[in-house]
Amino acid sequence: MTTQYNSTPARKGAWKTLFLMVYRPQKKLFHTLMAVAIFTATIDASFTLVTKSLVDDIVANGVEANLLKYAVLFTVLMLSIVSSIWYFIRLAGRLSTTLMYTLRKQSFEHLQSLSFTFFDNNAVGWLLARITSDTTRIANVVAWGTLDLFWGIPFILGIFTVLLILDWQLGLVVLGLFPFLAAVAMWFNIRILDSSRNLRRTNSRITAVYNESISGVQTSKVLVREDENLKEFQNDTRKMYRLSMHNLLLTSAFYPFVNVFVSMAVGAALWLGGVDVLAGTLTLGTLVAFMTYARSLMDPMLEVSGKLAELQRTTACVERVIGLLEVQPDIADSEQVKKHIEQALQSGAETLDGGDARIDTIEFRHVDFGYKAEEPVLKNFNLAVKAGATVALVGATGSGKSTIVSLLCRFYEPTQGQILINGEDYRGRSLAWLQSNLGIVLQTPFLFTGTVRSNIRYGNLDATDDEIVAAAKAVNVHDIIMQMERGYDTEIQEGGNNLSTGQKQLISFARAIIGNPQILVMDEATSSVDTQTEHLLQQSLQTVLQGRTSFVIAHRLSTIRSADTIVVIDQGELVEQGSHDELLAKKGRYFDLYRKQFQTETEEELLSQ
Ligand SMILES: Nc1ncnc2c1ncn2[C@@H]1O[C@H](COP(=O)(O)OP(=O)(O)OP(=O)(O)O)[C@@H](O)[C@H]1O
Ligand SMILES: [Mg+2]
Repeated sequence: MTTQYNSTPARKGAWKTLFLMVYRPQKKLFHTLMAVAIFTATIDASFTLVTKSLVDDIVANGVEANLLKYAVLFTVLMLSIVSSIWYFIRLAGRLSTTLMYTLRKQSFEHLQSLSFTFFDNNAVGWLLARITSDTTRIANVVAWGTLDLFWGIPFILGIFTVLLILDWQLGLVVLGLFPFLAAVAMWFNIRILDSSRNLRRTNSRITAVYNESISGVQTSKVLVREDENLKEFQNDTRKMYRLSMHNLLLTSAFYPFVNVFVSMAVGAALWLGGVDVLAGTLTLGTLVAFMTYARSLMDPMLEVSGKLAELQRTTACVERVIGLLEVQPDIADSEQVKKHIEQALQSGAETLDGGDARIDTIEFRHVDFGYKAEEPVLKNFNLAVKAGATVALVGATGSGKSTIVSLLCRFYEPTQGQILINGEDYRGRSLAWLQSNLGIVLQTPFLFTGTVRSNIRYGNLDATDDEIVAAAKAVNVHDIIMQMERGYDTEIQEGGNNLSTGQKQLISFARAIIGNPQILVMDEATSSVDTQTEHLLQQSLQTVLQGRTSFVIAHRLSTIRSADTIVVIDQGELVEQGSHDELLAKKGRYFDLYRKQFQTETEEELLSQ
């Protein structure tokens, strides 16, 4: 599958999927939030009703009116609204955090389940940055948007209801103006958002050009690019000026525009209501309430339309994230295998999927493979290996060595042909079973941020501290670790930058063997390590290979020579196979390779003996 994160096709109903995804596990939180919102909105709207009663009371009873009653009412309302707003904000904060956590967790987990093909088509760094910023944006907009919508909508509806109850005719006149207001507010909000984003983009472009021309000042002088750079810069700043003016115009026009509408509503209430008051059919208190309500509709109206516009503009992010979550991994257990796993769980079988526990043979049979359909990499590749053997893969760069082991690990699957374990297609076994029987050491060993201990434990999450030390000792890295500042608790910096390649490789040896895998796959490091580490690495390699079926992409002569089978690959085809002595005697491809690549190494070795 070649789905790309940045070009996920527009996906209808992404919001609904997102809502259900967040709502289901958070039902209680949502419901509480909604209840608190309605409560807050009701209290908020009640203030005006108290004012209404106060005015009517004073009009009717003059100085006899019981003012204390109103003072108490106001205080009670004030206290309730303050505490409910406080609670409301806390809940919304919790919703925001949970939402972000859920989205990130799900998208990262999902990424882990996707096959390598997906990452071939999507740059990982960019993908992560994109997801991080998308999920943050969604969480912020949704949580705080929900806050405003949850509060604003009941408030607006509440006021509408009160107005209609107080005087339905007058109410209808005031309400009639609000759909226009809502439309105008939406229109402005969307344009202001777009214009602000445009402005930000241009601004960062200018900054980038500015930085570039400063740091590249020598280069541009040499290339006589100064004039052009200046022109570019001028164009951008001119654009920035235009955009700023546009933005300013929109923002400054918005508020007066909305105000005109609201004033019209208030004016209509005053005029029509005033006539009624004079005729004695409407109390003064009701008129005051009407006018206050009409004015107080403005804020929630602006908030709600602003939030709706923001939500609308977040749709692209939501579609991207949901689209990503829906990308199906191309390599997954088949339905049949899933059934086997279930049965194995119930019957308490020895292996995860109820199949053989021991791996006796591994065979590549007529395997074809290409990363892209039109570019075959492996062509009719055949190789049979018995348990316990060490296979050294040699060949020029780009010949397909790493591809062979990637297929074995089932990071990719053959496009034609089969890979058989104990004579059975490995697609008939569960991925988890296969991969838990694999120990992998990569060419550039990857260490995770965390301690040395946790990095080794990654190979077997159940390993005890003693087992970790034992694994480290087995591959001769224990002493090196103990010399580090905090021993096994030494923090590994991002990507393991504080360690040498040799050290990283030794630690990944320990990680590879701690799960006691039956198959070991190793891409030997080509980068030079100091002779002492080299010696340690070679010794450790003996331990690592012992009793396992191993596939080593070998660069060291010592590894190649001691392998049981050497496989020479050329442009995706197996061209020679045999032991070191057999292949040398043949005087074929291996012989050439050996002479070209290792002659000097052999001489050095001989000299040092
Ligand atoms: N992820 C990928 N997507 C597309 N093409 C790839 C990918 N990985 C490798 N290739 C191509 O497949 C071919 C075989 O590559 P492979 O990495 O298996 O070679 P190799 O023998 O391991 O080389 P090296 O010794 O340099 O590691 C090369 O032509 C390479 O460009
Ligand atoms: Mg390779």
